[in-house]
Amino acid sequence: MMPTRTELLKRARAVLKGGAVKPPSAEDVFVGDGDFISIAAEFLGYFVEIGGLERHHTVLDIGCGIGRMAAGLACYLDPLTGRYHGFDPVPKGIAWCNQAFAAYPHFRFEQADVFNEHYWPQGRVLATDYHFPLPDWSVDFAIATSVFTHLYYEEVEAYLKEAARVLKPEGVLFSTFLLFDGERPPRRPNLPHLDFSEPHPQRPVMWHVKDKPPLSAVAYKTSAVIDLIKRTTGRTPKVLPGRWRGGAGPFFQDVVLA
Ligand SMILES: C[S@@+](CC[C@H](N)C(=O)[O-])C[C@H]1O[C@@H](n2cnc3c(N)ncnc32)[C@H](O)[C@@H]1O
Repeated sequence: MMPTRTELLKRARAVLKGGAVKPPSAEDVFVGDGDFISIAAEFLGYFVEIGGLERHHTVLDIGCGIGRMAAGLACYLDPLTGRYHGFDPVPKGIAWCNQAFAAYPHFRFEQADVFNEHYWPQGRVLATDYHFPLPDWSVDFAIATSVFTHLYYEEVEAYLKEAARVLKPEGVLFSTFLLFDGERPPRRPNLPHLDFSEPHPQRPVMWHVKDKPPLSAVAYKTSAVIDLIKRTTGRTPKVLPGRWRGGAGPFFQDVVLA
């Protein structure tokens, strides 16, 4: 009998926790806190159970960082029929991934020389001009975890258009955001890195944290993101509200599926 997706996920998590992929050392981590392997296992669960990820899928990881999402996927995607393609502007992340995933020939990591004033100010290409390195209608599952939380509105817009271009019609976009309803985000003085208090002067749907670099964290108004996704992708998104704002969704940030 063919194993179910849940059984495959259980096996993949056991392989991951058994040490299949080594985490980077602390000085190579630039994507925030948290245990690398636990996060990898947690997100693989979301991809399979919420997003419907299959072992034969072609996956695009937008802003792959240090390979936290790739680590779980390496233990799940079929080496013969599955494919993974990750890109990120930060060269040391890509160098780490190429070394850490050398035993996974169906995995590919690429540096995208895209400007981000917080992560890669040397970048020579604007995110609004960047073309994802994959052909039209070639991707089953596109991931953007904790990436749209560090991009300006126009950049999110451009990336959503690119995601729609590369995704197959039945493909899935699994993204995370920090979303708020009403006129402004809830105040979070106990989480100073997420205490959004400054609206963007031209874009009141986009809020920053006072006295921090604007792209260190960005919150968006839910209705603006829903409209943007509908307009750029022609898809109707589903929002699973994040725990950061008291939501009942699976994750700390808001999960947005389209
Ligand atoms: C908080 S980290 C999340 C990394 C990874 N997605 C994860 O969940 O582990 C944000 C990532 O977005 C990347 N990033 C920033 N601007 C980007 C852009 N324009 N295109 C792609 N990735 C970008 C950063 O380099 C960084 O790796």
